[in-house]
Amino acid sequence: MKNQQIVDSVRQSLDIVQIIGEVVPLKKSGNNFFGCCPFHNEKTPSFSVSSTKQLFHCFGCKVGGDVFKFVQLYFKWDFPQALEELAKRAGIQIEKIKTDPTWEEGFRILEIAMMTFEDALDSKEGEDFRSYLKARKIPEKLWKDFRLGAHTGGFQLLSDKLHEKNLSREIAVKLGLLGRSERGEYFDRFQGRVIFPILDEKGRPRGFGARSLGNDHPKYLNSPKSAHFDKGRLFYGMHLACSGSGKGTISRKGYSVLVEGYLDVIALHEYGISNALGSMGTALTSDQIRLLKRWSPRVISLYDADRAGLQATEKNLGNFLKEGLESKVVVLPNSKDPDALLHDETKSPEDRKLLLKKAFDESILAVDYLVQNTVLVEKNAMNRGKKLRSLVDILDQVPDEIERAVLKKDLAARFELPENLLFPKAAPEAQRPPPMGARKAVDLDKDLGRWEREILRFLVLSGEKAEFSLTELVPYLFSTSKWGSLLLRLIELQLKSQTIAELHWLNEVESENQSTIREWALEMKPELNSNEAVALWADLVRGVKRSYFQRESERIQKNLIAAEEARDSDLVRRLLTEKQDLMKFFKGQEKLSLTKQPVGVYENEKS
Ligand code: UTP
Ligand code: MN
Repeated sequence: MKNQQIVDSVRQSLDIVQIIGEVVPLKKSGNNFFGCCPFHNEKTPSFSVSSTKQLFHCFGCKVGGDVFKFVQLYFKWDFPQALEELAKRAGIQIEKIKTDPTWEEGFRILEIAMMTFEDALDSKEGEDFRSYLKARKIPEKLWKDFRLGAHTGGFQLLSDKLHEKNLSREIAVKLGLLGRSERGEYFDRFQGRVIFPILDEKGRPRGFGARSLGNDHPKYLNSPKSAHFDKGRLFYGMHLACSGSGKGTISRKGYSVLVEGYLDVIALHEYGISNALGSMGTALTSDQIRLLKRWSPRVISLYDADRAGLQATEKNLGNFLKEGLESKVVVLPNSKDPDALLHDETKSPEDRKLLLKKAFDESILAVDYLVQNTVLVEKNAMNRGKKLRSLVDILDQVPDEIERAVLKKDLAARFELPENLLFPKAAPEAQRPPPMGARKAVDLDKDLGRWEREILRFLVLSGEKAEFSLTELVPYLFSTSKWGSLLLRLIELQLKSQTIAELHWLNEVESENQSTIREWALEMKPELNSNEAVALWADLVRGVKRSYFQRESERIQKNLIAAEEARDSDLVRRLLTEKQDLMKFFKGQEKLSLTKQPVGVYENEKS
């Protein structure tokens, strides 16, 4: 694993709000957290921390950055020490990873395994497995999206393939793909099973769930925990639902839908719910909750209605409340899981769709669900009291003070109990963030480069990545302007397929404007739907092009006048050709008669 990967995985495993919150008291307000800046003296809080963008910024003294920057400044650590301490917190062993040469090879092995299983599903021997998937009503189009496969049998289907490609079968054993007999022979695991690869945000296979065709036990064999696979840090379907892949349906829809099983995720995709995430069987780990929070503050929980599902739901909802996630519960009719409901042959597909829609429409707020299903279901008053006590303990930890106050009041009223009995210790008076208008005006690039600045701002605010091809901008950027060169750097990063939504790139760019960009990131997201975003993007691109055209023609014109005055006919001719080329180039381009200025969809627009 390269250094950058270690840094990234440490950063991804930690929540900046939590780390900073341990040393600076923070209060939630809107999308961000506020507190008094530890780096300068102040009485009213202007220090803010964003959990979605994973950065901090002080509107007063302009200091800011990511979690590494914070601990370096706060604890006066150098970078290696910051990395060491934070890695320890994240439970990542740097030494082991650094010297682990098997990291890259492991990914190659997982990739080969996935493709081997896909090919096998396609092969003559795959017949029974294809029939199984068809019987489970998984549309064939989705087989590809989910990279479904099969281990069609035999002890050496994969083992031979790896040997042939000179890949270490010892690593494959660690990854749970192969076993090794007492006589030292390698053999395949997962034989005779349908394979559900579990892909990470970047679309890399991490592990596999292997289902038996019949009622064999266990129903699923899963990859064991390894350096590459940790069920508690992944969701099934995240390669399609999360922004790292560029598809990012969660960020587009503004919420995630949480289900239990592989087949539930796939069934929901069939019905257009492509922001589904599978927790793979159990209640969520704190790592998974942190991931959910990063992608969207809203979650819809849609677990099986069996005992295990209800228990996991209860546990998750409590954690969502404590973490400030807004969650709702969808209860499916007749205790079905989503896959069973959506493939219920006794109903027409239209009816199933209606039932699903109805269930979503009737989804219940987490706190209401908990009152109904944990407290009120208790027949015994004593137990009811105990359950109410645990709910009170949870609500006491809701981070947003206003939400917390309303929830408490509500709960007290519902049980006809005095509020100060339920919640005796009043929280200290919260400090408010400075009003938006009080912020110091951002220093803008004048005119030139303004379009580049708008584009950058659009990217930062909307958190969009591959939706918009940045490369088409390259010929038009004024690399002389600071925004232009920043964009070029971003394009370089995007080509290396790193996510720009999380602003890690901020560390990599040398710019006195880092603080401006952080302030954009902390603004509210504009409520753009994807059509509006596409239109705005097109406007911005046209703006850059038009601006380029004007600048170039002005430059040529000025040089022409000078050349004519100097009677330099060679130069005049060259400049005229250049002018013609420019005109010709732009003729084929979009209409340049645009009069539009940057669209003022953002608050605090100054130009
Ligand atoms: P379920 O038992 O609900 O399975 O477990 P399912 O996904 O609905 O599968 P079908 O419809 O019976 O084929 C939910 C999830 O729990 C994990 C899997 O991730 C599964 O999708 N699980 C379940 C296991 O890992 N192993 C098991 O033996 C069972
Ligand atoms: Mn199920």
